[in-house]
Amino acid sequence: MKSRFTLFAGFIFCLCLAAAGQEATAGKPAATKKPVTAAKLKISAEGTACLDCHTGTTPVLVQQWQTSKHAEQGIDCYTCHKANADDPAAFDHYGQKIAVIVTPKYCARCHSAEVAQYEQSRHSKATQFIGSLDNVLGEVVEGVPAVQSECRQCHGSEVKYLGEGKFSSTTWPNSGVGRVNPDGSTGSCSACHGRHSFSVAQARQPETCGKCHMGPDHPQIEIYNESMHGVIYNASVDKMNLNSKSWIVGKDYSAAPTCVTCHMGGTPNHPATTHDAGTHLSWTLRPAVSIRQPNWEQNRAAMQDVCLNCHATGLVENFYKQYDDTVNLYNSKYGEPATKIMKKLAEAHKITPTPFDTQIKWDYFELWHHEGRSARMGTAMMGPDFTQWHGFYEVAKDYYMHFIPDAEQLMPGVTKDVMDSPDNLWMKGLTKEQIHQQIEYYKKRYNQ
Ligand code: HEC
Ligand code: HEC
Ligand code: HEC
Ligand code: HEC
Ligand code: HEC
Ligand code: HEC
Ligand code: HEC
Ligand code: HEC
Repeated sequence: MKSRFTLFAGFIFCLCLAAAGQEATAGKPAATKKPVTAAKLKISAEGTACLDCHTGTTPVLVQQWQTSKHAEQGIDCYTCHKANADDPAAFDHYGQKIAVIVTPKYCARCHSAEVAQYEQSRHSKATQFIGSLDNVLGEVVEGVPAVQSECRQCHGSEVKYLGEGKFSSTTWPNSGVGRVNPDGSTGSCSACHGRHSFSVAQARQPETCGKCHMGPDHPQIEIYNESMHGVIYNASVDKMNLNSKSWIVGKDYSAAPTCVTCHMGGTPNHPATTHDAGTHLSWTLRPAVSIRQPNWEQNRAAMQDVCLNCHATGLVENFYKQYDDTVNLYNSKYGEPATKIMKKLAEAHKITPTPFDTQIKWDYFELWHHEGRSARMGTAMMGPDFTQWHGFYEVAKDYYMHFIPDAEQLMPGVTKDVMDSPDNLWMKGLTKEQIHQQIEYYKKRYNQ
């Protein structure tokens, strides 16, 4: 039964290749990328055996592989899936020792530079969130299953191998950026390189990053789509030359920058792509109070080297001034005082050490983790609606209307220093002049 099935599947596969070959000889112009032809395939005997079955078992997976650069270069199923000697997840599959998970260690046989950079990145360490407030929220407050299908799908699981090519369903399938693999390596290259085409064009699209970089606590894809950069990208995808082997801004494309252009891409001064996306950042906007990255000056210069291909120094310098001002405003007016007040409440035992058990802890969390990040990230990536309406508007409303009153109720006087500072004097009432300037004008404009 099995051998008849194999023969049949093999026959179908040959037919497909023959059809592809015929099309090529007929000299039709290729509308889309054609599957590689039989003549071009230089696959191994073991690889041919995989194809014989898998053309029938997983036909579309095979078709996707056929369109890839790997197929063109004769890198077949067996080349990638052939188990490393030290992989505890190796198993016998119809006579070959293979592994289901082709980890970064496997890719490193041919792409050692990309893997080495990736190992340096925060992406590769993204499973290390135990101890964070987010983790208490997911694992304890919301409940464990939430962590499996939420956090870990973006950050990565610790894959548990059960033997015979099977994995614990609580840990796999999973393509989180920092996944811990059975062979001890970290990361999942298919977090960005969808299998089995492993197309570089697809990885360069902002939507790839947007799978994870979205939502109220890191709305990067939403900000990008709102920015002029995203608007122009979306209007000019066909001019982005996404399939080009070399992809250097100003050389291979010029219409608009994408996430990859600014965070990972090559420039004429620095042609190499980096697989460590953190190397162009000067601040980290994640914590309650933003801090500078290590090597922030060098990182900022690297980012500006990207901008300066399209903009002049004046615009870029002023942009960075606007960005620093926004981060400093958020820090000094909201992030630092709110953090100080929380500390005082804790020292006076007015709040417990248990996270999320009273309203003020949710107020504070949303202040920095949601709206405070939106405000900062909105400016970093030129999305003004995120700076304002999803950002500072929400920050101000929650701070003045919820956080400060809640703190006062728990410990009268605890916000006094803060509320006496010049930043907050407006709460004691605007002057007649200010009221006239700020309010009367619009009343007149709309006859009210
Ligand atoms: C005799 C037929 C046959 C051959 C030869 C074969 N496979 Fe498979 N393979 C299968 C079938 C059937 C499945 C199960 C498909 C399913 O469950 O839908 C499978 C499953 C797999 C899986 C997934 C395992 C899992 O449990 O999730 C991988 C990875 C795989 N094959 C890779 C390969 C590679 C690489 C080769 C060549 C070295 C190969 N196969 C050769 C038939 C074959
Ligand atoms: C460039 C390397 C590479 C090549 C070539 C390759 N694979 Fe894979 N394959 C991977 C990676 C990476 C994964 C993802 C495993 C994971 O991270 O969970 C995978 C997963 C799989 C899976 C399990 C996931 C699923 O969707 O069911 C199957 C089955 C599979 N490959 C079969 C094949 C077959 C058949 C071929 C040949 C047509 C092939 N692979 C060629 C890298 C490769
Ligand atoms: C046996 C060697 C080998 C292995 C293993 C291998 N690759 Fe490749 N890969 C290549 C070659 C060769 C090319 C084609 C390079 C070229 O066209 O210049 C390539 C190209 C690529 C490209 C660029 C594709 C494009 O559209 O231009 C990506 C992305 C890629 N590989 C990712 C991976 C990942 C991820 C893995 C592991 C899951 C992997 N490769 C495993 C040899 C390999
Ligand atoms: C949609 C994908 C996604 C989900 C779901 C998700 N995260 Fe994240 N998380 C991210 C991204 C992307 C970042 C980085 C944001 C940035 O740098 O701006 C991040 C950042 C973090 C950070 C900050 C890391 C640091 O070093 O400061 C922690 C902690 C964290 N997440 C934990 C969690 C936990 C716990 C959960 C589940 C309750 C979760 N995340 C759910 C994508 C996700
Ligand atoms: C965060 C997303 C992301 C992850 C994860 C990722 N890559 Fe990439 N990779 C990209 C992007 C984007 C490009 C194209 C960059 C460019 O051309 O500017 C790329 C390009 C490549 C190329 C082609 C390089 C060239 O010069 O042609 C290879 C090979 C590659 N990646 C391998 C890997 C391997 C191996 C891993 C896992 C260790 C991996 N990638 C993980 C986003 C990613
Ligand atoms: C599968 C989910 C996922 C995808 C896809 C993804 N990221 Fe991330 N990214 C994360 C997580 C999670 C973090 C936070 C890691 C941490 O701090 O622990 C992160 C962090 C970052 C950081 C901050 C790094 C640092 O050193 O501070 C940058 C920049 C970034 N990603 C850019 C990108 C770009 C650009 C892409 C697309 C090419 C991308 N990411 C694709 C999940 C993802
Ligand atoms: C025009 C260039 C540009 C584009 C396009 C762009 N970014 Fe950024 N990004 C920046 C700048 C500038 C910063 C702030 C850098 C700094 O702090 O010095 C930043 C910051 C970040 C951070 C760090 C946030 C933190 O928590 O500290 C992440 C993550 C990120 N971007 C992801 C993305 C993703 C994902 C996309 C696409 C959806 C994208 N970026 C598009 C320029 C860009
Ligand atoms: C590939 C070219 C390209 C790159 C790289 C690029 N930009 Fe832009 N940027 C544009 C285009 C095009 C516009 C839209 C200009 C317009 O509205 O006429 C724009 C608009 C802007 C604007 C809005 C200007 C205005 O008048 O409102 C700012 C600010 C900006 N970019 C900053 C940056 C910064 C900072 C970087 C680097 C982190 C950067 N850009 C990288 C092409 C680029």
